[in-house]
Amino acid sequence: MKKKILVTGGTGYIGSHTVVELQNAGYDVVIVDNLSNSNTEVLDGIEKISGIRPVFAELDCNDKTGLKKLLEANPGIKGIIHFAASKAVGESVKIPLQYYRNNIVTLLNLLELMPEAGIEGIVFSSSCTVYGQPDILPVTEDAPVKLALSPYGNTKQINEEIIRDTIYAGAPFKSIILRYFNPIGAHPSAEIGELPNGVPQNLVPFLTQTAMGIRPELSVFGDDYDTPDGSCIRDYINVVDLAKAHVIAMDRMLNNQTEEKLEIFNLGTGRGVSVLELIGAFEKGTRVKVPYKIVGRREGDIEKVWANPEHANKVLGWTAKESVEDTLVTAWNWQLKLRERGIQ
Ligand code: UD1
Repeated sequence: MKKKILVTGGTGYIGSHTVVELQNAGYDVVIVDNLSNSNTEVLDGIEKISGIRPVFAELDCNDKTGLKKLLEANPGIKGIIHFAASKAVGESVKIPLQYYRNNIVTLLNLLELMPEAGIEGIVFSSSCTVYGQPDILPVTEDAPVKLALSPYGNTKQINEEIIRDTIYAGAPFKSIILRYFNPIGAHPSAEIGELPNGVPQNLVPFLTQTAMGIRPELSVFGDDYDTPDGSCIRDYINVVDLAKAHVIAMDRMLNNQTEEKLEIFNLGTGRGVSVLELIGAFEKGTRVKVPYKIVGRREGDIEKVWANPEHANKVLGWTAKESVEDTLVTAWNWQLKLRERGIQ
């Protein structure tokens, strides 16, 4: 019998790509999402790719009674992948309480409901933001967690602590925390991708919208950093590569491939790419020009960060495979698809 997985935030960007990979690997998926930053058309995209329409419940994970009912209506869920969260750094500074409620109460609800429902493992969606500006690059999982620079970043740190404390208190389940670097790109079919509400805050959706002419110009936030070309450096990881790591993590917990009750992995490529290099890679891969200008630094930005992914490579047997250039082509194909659909 197929094992059933609950994916919170499953119609979102990383969530939807992970649902496809779970289905490809033979899992049954139940999605819960409040649609605050996505829509049900994503379910059509998932179905087009995998041939399977996942069970979907429109529900906010803050609603514990609703979650309990959902678990009762879908018995036999073995694992949870928890993506549902607010993720705009700037917005989190303006409305911190909403971020703390959305990102923390939701996790508490899930952890409290897991034992009774017999759920054996939870994969948690964390971020390299927990490292702040690391002292040593590439950054390993042992690097210290630094003081968070935003409520968003703080929620990721607090979530990790909540999971750690719960596991060490003897909870009857396992957890794997995945610290993502910068996920970009879309499914190669262009049936699903990133669809931010309003003006994108992240680099790649802003870039593809600019290349499409939706935005007049991309602002590059700073060229006076201590990096070879002066712009910030990140580790951009293909979203499908990232999604596949979640399936491996879930297999690992449910098939008892690990004795550890809690494990943490960096998910990145191990390569640092500057903002200007990324624009160059996009132009090379797509042959489309991106108008851009250099502006001042963005508050709270980290100068440079990229992963040491060896722990995930060795222990999970997972490696990020796709190049930044090919991944940017998938982001562009998704943007073209959106135009075809008259969305943007
Ligand atoms: C941020 C968070 C990360 C979070 C992610 C999700 C931090 C340090 N990082 O990533 O934890 O998971 O958002 O939203 O809190 N840039 C431009 N012009 C733009 C947009 C971005 O030059 O219009 C530059 C930024 O300065 C940065 C790079 O592009 O150097 C990537 O920015 P972005 O895509 O916003 O991601 P992060 O800030 O790295």
